[in-house]
Amino acid sequence: SKPVGIDPSRLTITKTTTPKTPSDPATLVFGREFTDHMLTIEWTRQDGWLPPQIAPYQNLSLDPATCVFHYAFECFEGLKAYKDKSGNVRLFRPDKNMQRFNKSAARIALPTFEPTALIDLMSKFTKLEERFIPNQRGYSLYLRPTMIGTQKTIGVGAPGSALLYIIASPVGPYYPTGFKAVSLEATNYAVRAWPGGVGDKKLGANYAPCIVPQLEAGSRGFQQNLWLFGEEEYVTEVGTMNMFVAIKNKETGQKELITAPLDGTILAGITRDSILSLAREKLAPEGWAVVERKYTMKELDEASQEGRLMEAFGSGTAAIVSPVRKISWKGKLVDCGLNELEESGEIALRMKGWMEARQYGDEEHAWSYVC
Ligand code: COI
Repeated sequence: SKPVGIDPSRLTITKTTTPKTPSDPATLVFGREFTDHMLTIEWTRQDGWLPPQIAPYQNLSLDPATCVFHYAFECFEGLKAYKDKSGNVRLFRPDKNMQRFNKSAARIALPTFEPTALIDLMSKFTKLEERFIPNQRGYSLYLRPTMIGTQKTIGVGAPGSALLYIIASPVGPYYPTGFKAVSLEATNYAVRAWPGGVGDKKLGANYAPCIVPQLEAGSRGFQQNLWLFGEEEYVTEVGTMNMFVAIKNKETGQKELITAPLDGTILAGITRDSILSLAREKLAPEGWAVVERKYTMKELDEASQEGRLMEAFGSGTAAIVSPVRKISWKGKLVDCGLNELEESGEIALRMKGWMEARQYGDEEHAWSYVC
């Protein structure tokens, strides 16, 4: 028989006999607590996707030779589920995450799937866990779809079997200190992504090598790395987020919201895409130019010195927006337009509001998927 696709109609659900009490949202630390269940779907080259299962959250049991442990056959996604004011559960742009998940999986010889089938299952799973979704602004249920190669072999090759699973973690504001501007260290001694590489895929293997540089920056008092690329010192990403800057054009004085283009070295963030859309919709009519182009650290420094750097912020699913106060570069501090009393610029703040309106369903919009 032919290998089959994911079939939501074959879902089996085994509920936990020891349900947890969700903890007080105020005490949540990002990614530490999980819900009662997990969704798992096994794949084999011979049979394709096996029947999906929702079962109690539990350990995986894998042979030490399993290929994921040796050659990093792992990719993941991150998206959030929100509770709206009528009590509906909503996913934010899950189609975009599924599309990217497939691209990541395909790049490391893991199987792909029909996006609508996984959205359907994720929706059922999320609804089952709905009592873990805090219904306060700033809080949500972070979903972590993950795919790993499970073939028992240390031979290097395409995995003959895989496991797709989704776990869920109730989360509050990403930074424990709240919505606070961070300071960055422009990093040129380590490179996050390069042309022809896999920096545009959400592979676990892209993340581990960034921790030592983050610790280095941390030891000098900077919360995140600003990843530069090449002799030109192009600004690419910040920490695990995309980077945006608002600059007044040197010649024309026009306000520009700028982010690096998707040239293969930049992760195609769903928050990045949403911010670009919102900017074209709401800022362009106010006279802003919305630009995807390469820009350099030198350009930022010059804009800062001339008072043209209005603000800078990171964008990602976890934090939504993360304002930047200053950037350490070549022994100096580049000021990113905030005064000492401000934790965010106006654009980051407005973006956060516009994003939340759609995420929490205050504004009915195609980006919000009702489970
Ligand atoms: C983000 O949402 O900004 C991320 O990259 C998620 C992170 C926890 C890996």
